[in-house]
Amino acid sequence: MSSSIPSVTLNNSVLIPQIGFGTYQIEPDDTRAATEFALEAGYRHIDTAAAYGNEAGVGEAVRACAIPREELFITTKLRNADQGYETTLRAFEQSRRNLGVETIDLYLIHWPYPRHGLFVESWLAIERLYADGAVRAIGVSNFLPDHLEGILAEGTVVPAINQIELHPTFQQTSLSDFTIQHGIAVEAYSPLGQGLDLDNRAVRAIAESHGVTPAQVVLRWHLQRGFIAIPKSTTPARILANLDILGFSLDVSEMALVTALESGNRTSADPATFDFSQR
Ligand code: A2P
Repeated sequence: MSSSIPSVTLNNSVLIPQIGFGTYQIEPDDTRAATEFALEAGYRHIDTAAAYGNEAGVGEAVRACAIPREELFITTKLRNADQGYETTLRAFEQSRRNLGVETIDLYLIHWPYPRHGLFVESWLAIERLYADGAVRAIGVSNFLPDHLEGILAEGTVVPAINQIELHPTFQQTSLSDFTIQHGIAVEAYSPLGQGLDLDNRAVRAIAESHGVTPAQVVLRWHLQRGFIAIPKSTTPARILANLDILGFSLDVSEMALVTALESGNRTSADPATFDFSQR
């Protein structure tokens, strides 16, 4: 199943599977089992973060599975409290130890945390990790256009990814267009709107007509839009279903019906003001 999930080619030619297993809000003690199940189900892309406190569980699952390391794509993120040049280098080492891997496939600045003014310095440290070969691709998360402009102006590497909240009722179209125009791939977190976009009349009707679930319709919409998406679930049947989206497709009018659901329904924090240290 995994081999058929399409990949997106990032701006440095690295391939990332378009559907990944999101681990946000998975308890540390549940992470190993959920990730092992996801790997068995065919996921080859796992998304974690230092701030989730569950990198170790992801690492245990990765080491326990028989899948060659080069077939897996592992993302983790720099938490806000670790921003700064030297602190970023140290935080990366800690994440690498937590995960028990030599190379991280994608390392992201988790939030711009703009009031602290350290995201450019942090980016320059991440560029160094990239130059050293410790990470295969580097990017950001929750960056708004002015934050992106800051690192485009000061850095030498264009981020490969901007991971942002994106789902049918909160599409951030102008941010996503800006990101893509700069050669940066858009990765959707909370792709199901934390589950809130599923109980929707249009999505349910489309799902019924294809004999699939609302979540499969929403993930198929992401896939056809070209986004990378990282649905989270700890429910085995849903983990399986969320990857099983290649047996049907949405036509132009169905795509338009889902796109028309935009309603400004943000479920996570606003990056312009998000100010938690994440410790
Ligand atoms: P659970 O983990 O209990 O299965 P998002 O990825 O947008 O943040 O959404 C995650 C939320 O959506 C979780 O509450 C998760 O619940 C739920 N969810 C994930 N996959 C499905 C699915 N296929 N059907 C219904 N709910 C789902």
